[in-house]
Formats: sequence, structure tokens, C-alpha cells
Amino acid sequence: MVNASDLSIQSVTKSFGSNVVLNGISIDVEPGEFMTFLGPSGCGKTTLLRMIGGFGEPDSGRIMLAGRDITHLPPNQRDCGFVFQSYALFPHMTVRANVAYGLKLRKLPAAEIESRVATVLGMVGLEAFADRHPKQLSGGQQQRVAIARAIAIRPSLLLMDEPLSNLDAKLRERIRFELRALQKQLGITTIFVTHDQEEAMAVSDRIIVMNKGNVEQIGTPAQIYGDPASLFVADFVGVNNLVPGTVRQATGATVMVETAAGLMEASHHDSRAGENVQLALRPEMISLAPAGQAVAATGGQLEGTVTMAAFLGAATRYEVEVQNGVVLKVAAPAGSRPHALGSRVLCHWPVESAHALRA
Ligand SMILES: Nc1ncnc2c1ncn2[C@@H]1O[C@H](COP(=O)(O)OP(=O)(O)O)[C@@H](O)[C@H]1O
Ligand SMILES: [Mg+2]
Repeated sequence: MVNASDLSIQSVTKSFGSNVVLNGISIDVEPGEFMTFLGPSGCGKTTLLRMIGGFGEPDSGRIMLAGRDITHLPPNQRDCGFVFQSYALFPHMTVRANVAYGLKLRKLPAAEIESRVATVLGMVGLEAFADRHPKQLSGGQQQRVAIARAIAIRPSLLLMDEPLSNLDAKLRERIRFELRALQKQLGITTIFVTHDQEEAMAVSDRIIVMNKGNVEQIGTPAQIYGDPASLFVADFVGVNNLVPGTVRQATGATVMVETAAGLMEASHHDSRAGENVQLALRPEMISLAPAGQAVAATGGQLEGTVTMAAFLGAATRYEVEVQNGVVLKVAAPAGSRPHALGSRVLCHWPVESAHALRA
């Protein structure tokens, strides 16, 4: 079923009245890639996904699929499978009939339809449920039917709009991995939409972080997590130490940022001397040592007092007040040496995990 496709979204814009929803979006998706649109509610994810599927047209720009301009083609001429957030199953049809629907529309021979339906129901583990109606299935099973229906037509592009958001947390986590495994097995180029950053990290080859109709960053989960390109991305993907400061010196790979806690070194983005920035640092990238104990000389370090300690099992959360009221949140892994409330500690971190992001 490998069907190489290559999606290219070129300078796509869309407004509803005076509301600019897509502000000149350009994205290239590789054949077989699992690409995720990640962003807060209202940033334009569904609008863009629907345009790729043919449910709506851009005001300007082009959408190319496998070298073909599909911008103005109706959905049934685009070769896309679509999984809607609401599943949109036909309630009066059995699972089998739901999955066969697109194949009948395409007028495939009955034997071919029967064999394809059996194959995709097997892939999603629902062979035994073929004669049931949607209301006789759990949410997770309905979601699998929607996926089976979308892949039965062997689309060159699979589009999924928050397909896991109606499931409970445990099921959602399990289905993530199944979905990714199935996508890799089929090799179908996939666009997945979510507002959940952890879900995006778990399933994607690459993630596109969107904000108000703009692309903030395109990168692998590791890049988005470890090297956020903007303050918006850092904040959205859960970097919750943000220390305000001013760039004093920008040379080579690092910058020196003057903060209330003193001079702090950070990896260089595009900030210039004199600019106001936020120094972004993940709690789990900060290590603690008792004050006075020698640690590696490289990297950032600040001494402070533990003002909060909460044991959470997998991690212990601390707040450490460094100078002038600046508080650093720290997440220490299970098994690390505990630090008592009120004790003096040294916070230290690798320089490449601190990012000076334009405020
Ligand atoms: N058909 C429509 N008519 C008017 N406004 C719309 C329409 N569809 C979406 N919008 C607006 O476009 C913006 C983006 O919506 P949407 O693409 O659904 O965001 P997301 O999927 O990221 O939550 C929102 O402000 C929404 O209200
Ligand atoms: Mg949406």
C-alpha cells in the first residue's frame, strides 16, 4: 500500500471577513512522513487541513499533491482519506458498510471491496465487529472505524483532525502508538492535527507549531522540545522557566543575558545586544547539588534556597529562589538526592538548554 506522495502548501492565505485565519502558510511534507499541525484552539489548524482535503478553498496560494495542483479540485478527486474529529460515521450503517462506503463510491468490484474491508478491519483489530452499528461500539472502536474507512480507499494522503480528542486519557495514550505503527506500516503520508503537545511529540516525524495563522516553527519533536525557535513555542510546549533580561553580548553560539539573577549565558538565536529577551530553561534540564559542592565549570549555575519541594513519584518538583526574587522551577528525576526546604543548593544546567528568546 505504499503510495509515495509529496504535499506542498505554497503561500496559502484565508480570511473569514476581516478575520485573517491563515497568513501565508508554506509547508513541504515528505513522502511517508507523519506531520503534525500543533497549536492552540483557533490558530487555523482545521481550516488548513480542510483545504488540503478539498473542504474549502484558499483566498490565494497553491496546494500541490505529488506534483499536481489540487487547490481547486473537489474532495473526491484528491485522493485523500479524512478522519474528522467527530468521526462522522454513518449511524444507520454497519461497520462493514461504513468502511466500504468510499470503495462503493469509487465503483470497485464487489470482491475487491470485500477483501479490502476485511484487510483494513484486521489492521485496526475490528474483524469481529463488522456487523455492528456505530452506537454499539466504544469511542475507541468508533475512532478505529473512522481510520479504517479513511485508509480503505488507499489514499496517498491521510488527514486527521484531532482524532483522539474524544477518548479518555489512557486509551488516547495507547492509540497514539498504534496509530503511529499503522501509519509506518502503510507508509501513507499523514497530516495529523492536535492541540496537545505531548501527543504531537509521541506520534510525529515532524511538527509544525502554528500561532494565529502563522508557522512559528517546523522541526522534529526533539528540535521543538529542545530548541524552541520563539517565545510562543517555548511557552506552548511547556518550558516554564522564563527569566526576563537584556542581551549584553552576542558572540558566536552564545549570548550573555543580564537578568535580575545576574548574568546568564544562553544559546544564541537571533537576538542582538540591547534587546529584551526571555531566557527559557526547562525544569528537567536543571540539576541540583548542595551549595559548595564542586560541579562542572561549564554551563550555567546559580546558587539559591529551596522554597518549595513536592515529591511526585516520577520526579520531585522544587522551587529555588536565586537572587533578587528570581525563582527557578526544577524537576529532579526519581532517585536523585533529596534537598530539604530551606537548604542552600546550586542549580546548574548545560548552556545549550538555555535559550534567549526575543520578548
Ligand atoms: N466557516 C467559518 N466562518 C467563519 N469563521 C471561521 C470559519 N471556520 C473557521 N473560522 C474561524 O477561523 C479561526 C480558525 O479556526 P480553526 O481553523 O477551526 O482553528 P483550530 O482548528 O486551530 O482550532 C477561528 O477564529 C474560527 O472562528
Ligand atoms: Mg480544529
